[in-house]
Amino acid sequence: MLGIALVAAVITTAVAVLIQWLPSSASEEMDRITFTYWFATIICIAIFSLVIGVIVYSVLAFRVQPDDDTDGPPIHGNTRLEVIWTVVPAILVIAIGIVSAVVLEKNADAGANPLRVKVFAQQFAWRFEYPGNVRSDELVLPLHRHVKFEMTSVDVIHSFWIPQMGQKQDVVPGIETEIVVTPTRTGTFTLICTELCGLGHATMRAPVRVLQEAAFSTWLSKERAAGGGAPAGGATGGSTTATGGAEEALGSKTFASAGCGACHEFKKAGTDAQVGPSLDDLTAAAQKAGESVPDYVRESIEDPNKVVVAGYQPGVMPQNFKESLSSEEIDALVAYVGGEEAK
Ligand code: CUA
Repeated sequence: MLGIALVAAVITTAVAVLIQWLPSSASEEMDRITFTYWFATIICIAIFSLVIGVIVYSVLAFRVQPDDDTDGPPIHGNTRLEVIWTVVPAILVIAIGIVSAVVLEKNADAGANPLRVKVFAQQFAWRFEYPGNVRSDELVLPLHRHVKFEMTSVDVIHSFWIPQMGQKQDVVPGIETEIVVTPTRTGTFTLICTELCGLGHATMRAPVRVLQEAAFSTWLSKERAAGGGAPAGGATGGSTTATGGAEEALGSKTFASAGCGACHEFKKAGTDAQVGPSLDDLTAAAQKAGESVPDYVRESIEDPNKVVVAGYQPGVMPQNFKESLSSEEIDALVAYVGGEEAK
């Protein structure tokens, strides 16, 4: 019986060890999650092997002969055995519970001085805001520092997950959820949305870059100096002549950060998604709506259900860009998408 259990243990251990089930850790939190995983897995391998040993041995040793129609011996239970198979699993489950509770507690601890990063999720893009009003579409993190994400969604429920960093948390409209990550190695990773949030869900990803503390400080002060992509307050209403290049840059940046490319083909931005109508030539569509191209683009951003192109569903395009984008961003986006035919 012990021999069979040993064989089962060796095979199960090989399956557990030889296949890489978890991504290689890049955070303190993931290290703890990995520990919990192995703690539970080792217990499972031991119990599983014991059960397999008893079952296989019983099948072999107590097999009924083909012509044996007698009843088995009457057994009225075995108190000692029943106490053992109740108490041992209870202890093991409680142990897993305690380890998990300690890990959850530690993984939620951001320490005394975390870096606070605001996370805004929307169909189908992520945006980040650092202290000092620095906005970014890329998530840049310092090595070995607790980072506390304060997250909210402007539309539906999304979920924040960087696989190598373990931590996963829903991002919910109307409330702020939090999660702590402490990177342990530099490199590039991907932030993935893991809550089915609409047609562009699979494209809702953001690049993550972990830098040494010094390199991170340099990046942050550089972004601060550059205004971090936040609209520079000087834009005067309606005037597109003053800062043509800056508006083009803001338009391009907004196109990326608002997630337009997740659904629309637009050669200028290098996107080829087919969820929504192509933005490459809007002349015919604007004519059909009886509007100029810029007016048509603005209307489609601010009130997307007013005119829905034949063959597409209403309600797929997010309805809240008028609230979630600043008026400078919308102006720049209109110029960027509909600008060529503007004059
Ligand atoms: Cu956002 Cu899926």
